[in-house]
Amino acid sequence: MRLAILLSGRGSNFAAIHDAIVRGDLDAEIVCVIANRANAAGIERARILGLPAHVIDHRAFASREGHESEVLHILEEARPDFIALAGYMRLLSPAFIAAYPMRIVNIHPSLLPAFPGVDAQAQAIAYGVKISGCTVHFVDETLDAGPIIVQRTVPVRADDDASTLAARILDEEHVAYVEALARLSSGRYRVDGRRVVFS
Ligand code: GRF
Repeated sequence: MRLAILLSGRGSNFAAIHDAIVRGDLDAEIVCVIANRANAAGIERARILGLPAHVIDHRAFASREGHESEVLHILEEARPDFIALAGYMRLLSPAFIAAYPMRIVNIHPSLLPAFPGVDAQAQAIAYGVKISGCTVHFVDETLDAGPIIVQRTVPVRADDDASTLAARILDEEHVAYVEALARLSSGRYRVDGRRVVFS
């Protein structure tokens, strides 16, 4: 599987994916890493690892389309089978998504459809749920609502705040993302409406 990574910050999910490839747990090759921020720790890591790393700063473009067309240009050259959003803090336009239908995946730090959008862990604390987790899903035109590939759960403890819960969820994100990509890489699945069915 040829894999592109889009990120905006820390890049711990990217690191977990890369580590899994190195360990031999994920049959994939990272063909490019693209960040929209020059100071993203994840893009520095990509450079250190010798991976093709690109910074396309969205603030340098007058429009979303202008920024996306530059990102799409890099992707066209890299020819990924799948694009993994790993803490990519930009909404993708319908045109971008249509260029890679059911080939863009995202990770979200809640059990979707609960708590979409920003600050999912704080939303979970405020709501008072006893269980939360993470979701790897296909990206479609809906916000955090594309077909679900993998979910993993964590308990919410009485003394948790958003940051302690986020740390517990993040450990599971790293496992979930690798599992989801391994399943996609195997090719043994189909998308039946909202349902991702593995065989
Ligand atoms: C993760 O919590 C992920 O679920 C969310 O953004 C965060 C990215 O973390 N979409 P990292 O950059 O992968 O460390």
